[in-house]
Amino acid sequence: MKTELHLFDRSYSLFRFPKLSNEQLQAWDAGDEYLIQHVEELGLPNNSNILILNDSFGALSCWFSEQHQVTTISDSFISHQGIKHNLEHNQCQPIDLRASIDQWPQQVDIVLMQIPRNNRYLTWQLNQIASKYQGGCSLVAVNKAKEIHSSTLKIFEKYAGHTTTSLAWKKHRLVFSELNSAYKDTVEPYTTWPVEEHKLLLANLPNVYSGESLDLGARFILEHLKSDNKYQDIVDLGCGNGVLTLKLKQLNPQANVTAIDESYMAVKSAHHNFALNHIDSEGCHFVANNCLDGFAPNSQDLVVCNPPFHQQQAVTDHIAWQMFCDAKQVLRDTGELMVIGNRHLGYDKKLARLFGKHNVKLVASNAKFVILQATK
Ligand SMILES: C[S@@+](CC[C@H](N)C(=O)[O-])C[C@H]1O[C@@H](n2cnc3c(N)ncnc32)[C@H](O)[C@@H]1O
Repeated sequence: MKTELHLFDRSYSLFRFPKLSNEQLQAWDAGDEYLIQHVEELGLPNNSNILILNDSFGALSCWFSEQHQVTTISDSFISHQGIKHNLEHNQCQPIDLRASIDQWPQQVDIVLMQIPRNNRYLTWQLNQIASKYQGGCSLVAVNKAKEIHSSTLKIFEKYAGHTTTSLAWKKHRLVFSELNSAYKDTVEPYTTWPVEEHKLLLANLPNVYSGESLDLGARFILEHLKSDNKYQDIVDLGCGNGVLTLKLKQLNPQANVTAIDESYMAVKSAHHNFALNHIDSEGCHFVANNCLDGFAPNSQDLVVCNPPFHQQQAVTDHIAWQMFCDAKQVLRDTGELMVIGNRHLGYDKKLARLFGKHNVKLVASNAKFVILQATK
């Protein structure tokens, strides 16, 4: 697997985060290279103010930090770690690294964007750019050509302004927008909808997983979450909008409940949803993190997890595996891990490998999902 990004006369060695010994995936893609080549050909004056959105693991941040003032905004805690490690490893100039929920910078000459998968997030980001940086600022975005649909370009036209595209290069295309959109309204950050059966209202910031309707797995596991005085410390691992965190705290008001996600917008939404539903958040913590990194061993009674099977564009089960390994570490001897997954994902085998076959039991199943419980 290639770790050296070599362009023009410069090289950076770049790694994904977390750094895996058997890593199969590169830390940048041809889209990053296309964007870098295009911007280098523009010949920007030194010290231009560059805003980078959705940099995966820091290829863009490292490259442009050399000659420019870079602000990078990302919703991903994992990307933040990757960007920091790669900047340090390549002895780059410092950049201003911000979370998606932070303020945007005032002064920007050019915005460079890796187009996000999620159209609601794209819409919100374009609306932010167009409303903040009209006049003299330009936007260049990139993605795989097959991911740039006519509907994607319509979103650019409507929320950013007049839009054109480049020829494809190594299966990627650039998108140029003039930031002269006639759309002057503000796109509301939260989308809110009810879960009638549980009398909950869920507000979702734009990049929250399943932010427009309840995830089917979440709907199923909600029916099977337990109330028990023995639970003093509970983790909702991969909390999304916090739907399971809310229910866990309602069922177990005595417990400290920690909601963890790698998306800053998810963590903020989960916190916001406690106030929205008038549920006391005393003893609750809302943490942006990679799985359970840094959590003390033997500190939790219950970990509930509806794991992801994507990391950015890549389909992968290494995060689910990491979540199960971490859960085993942080659980007390009497602790339980409760997992929901699609039948075809084979989580039962993974959990049996980790906890022992006799310590994994089926809690419930339907045509699509299984709910499993593993004890230490
Ligand atoms: C399938 S969603 C479940 C969301 C929510 N709990 C639900 O049931 O609707 C998985 C969540 O895991 C989060 N996630 C992905 N990788 C993670 C990681 N390394 N550490 C923590 N959370 C992660 C995603 O952002 C996503 O919100």
